[in-house]
Amino acid sequence: MPSVIMSLDQGTTSSRAILFDRSGTIVGLSQREFTQHYPKNDQVEHDADEIWQTQLAVAREAIQTHDFTAEDVAAIGITNQRETTVIWDRSTGRPIAPAIVWQDRRTAALCDQLNRQGHGDWVQRKTGLLIDSYFCATKIQWLLDNVSGARQRADRGELAFGTIDSWLIWNLTAGRVHATDVTNASRTMLLDIDSGQWDDELLQLFNVPRSLLPEVLPSSHLYGETDASLFGAPIAIGGAAGDQQSALFGQNCTSPGMAKNTYGTGCFALLNVGTRPAPSTCKLLTTMACRINEQQTYALEGSIFIAGAMVQWLRDEIGIIDSADEIEALAASVPDSGGVCVVPALAGLGAPHWDPYARGTIIGLTRGTTKAHIARAALEGIAFQVADVLEAMQNDAGISIDQLRVDGGAAANNLLMQFQADILGIAVVRPKVIETTAMGAAYLAGLSSGFWSGHDEIADVWQTDRVFQPDMERGEAARRRARWSDAVTRSRGWES
Ligand code: G3P
Repeated sequence: MPSVIMSLDQGTTSSRAILFDRSGTIVGLSQREFTQHYPKNDQVEHDADEIWQTQLAVAREAIQTHDFTAEDVAAIGITNQRETTVIWDRSTGRPIAPAIVWQDRRTAALCDQLNRQGHGDWVQRKTGLLIDSYFCATKIQWLLDNVSGARQRADRGELAFGTIDSWLIWNLTAGRVHATDVTNASRTMLLDIDSGQWDDELLQLFNVPRSLLPEVLPSSHLYGETDASLFGAPIAIGGAAGDQQSALFGQNCTSPGMAKNTYGTGCFALLNVGTRPAPSTCKLLTTMACRINEQQTYALEGSIFIAGAMVQWLRDEIGIIDSADEIEALAASVPDSGGVCVVPALAGLGAPHWDPYARGTIIGLTRGTTKAHIARAALEGIAFQVADVLEAMQNDAGISIDQLRVDGGAAANNLLMQFQADILGIAVVRPKVIETTAMGAAYLAGLSSGFWSGHDEIADVWQTDRVFQPDMERGEAARRRARWSDAVTRSRGWES
């Protein structure tokens, strides 16, 4: 009788495999980092073969080193860095070029051109996305137009495209299944967000042949079985979802109005808006949250580029802390930021500002300012950005958010979580297992394979660690947010 579900969490910097038992406890974990390639200033690439090899190695390691066998694994759930684009040869299974990573900006000029030509509005209506090099469509176009012979081979049906979920499913099934889940598909800018199907008008705009595309399947679904040679016996692949959608599901945000924020290098906040897509007028993304049993759920998403990366910058480039963990104690050594504001716009500003020309800003320095004030202001800057996104979400969705569920590395920082609650004026809830990304994929696979009986059972698996209640007078919170907005204004348009 199988006793675990295995999540394959293929992230931007590492491949991980995590085994969960029926109570949602982690009973095995293996992780491997892989190489980042920066061939030019605006380019970020991964070797798709290395992604597959590291993912396979950690999956084997997680099973073997914790004394399990393939027969113990009820199913595999896949969750992955989204938008990263791979094209491979259907007959050899070899990638035709390095994968273009979601952070890569090489198609920015092409996107500017499409926006200038007036395509932005209808593309946003159809896909829920803003035309940007972040998404797959222009990355596919770039590969077809720049890799020698690629367009002709694609036209002859010899090539396959996939996001990382699709690439892993293809390899796990030894090329028998070419499929993607609907949440990953909704990040390609080729999917009609209403129907959940590939769209001919979009394929024409981006000049992408339909033969390249995987089949779009539900997030909780039996995709196929792993090739018997990989783990000693076949294992069912029971679910797949992009990492942020997986975290939303892993946080049990399954009803409209429920929201989560992941504090990683950047922050990704998602709000469940129910079974109809909510269009955004505040520069948020409308995206698929999941599809289970033909029921589609939608989310609004705010992507913030720099959060934990600001703390890394203070550590590596400025040296006011030796390790990221130290920031909490340093920030707590002063009662407030002493009037200092830090806008962490080191890579421009994402949602809801979308200003590539904004720059990191530290303002309000006096002779009395210490590194503790700057550390505290940096943490506050992360929380203020999240507050801006949540405000935009509530405006767009017409839903009031009454609590925020949190995960990711910096969710362990109590000072940051308390300040987040203070500024938002709502409870911030941290679960016991903050591996919610992997948890979500485990839930999806566990539901389709019958490992868990249904939503009620997985709702019991999710447990609260700590609730941070707001403890700041609302007038004070408003004053601080006004000062933050002023600092954001001053950070913008620096390069122009
Ligand atoms: O959209 C990009 C996002 O999915 C990347 O997530 O956690 O791999 O940085 P992560």
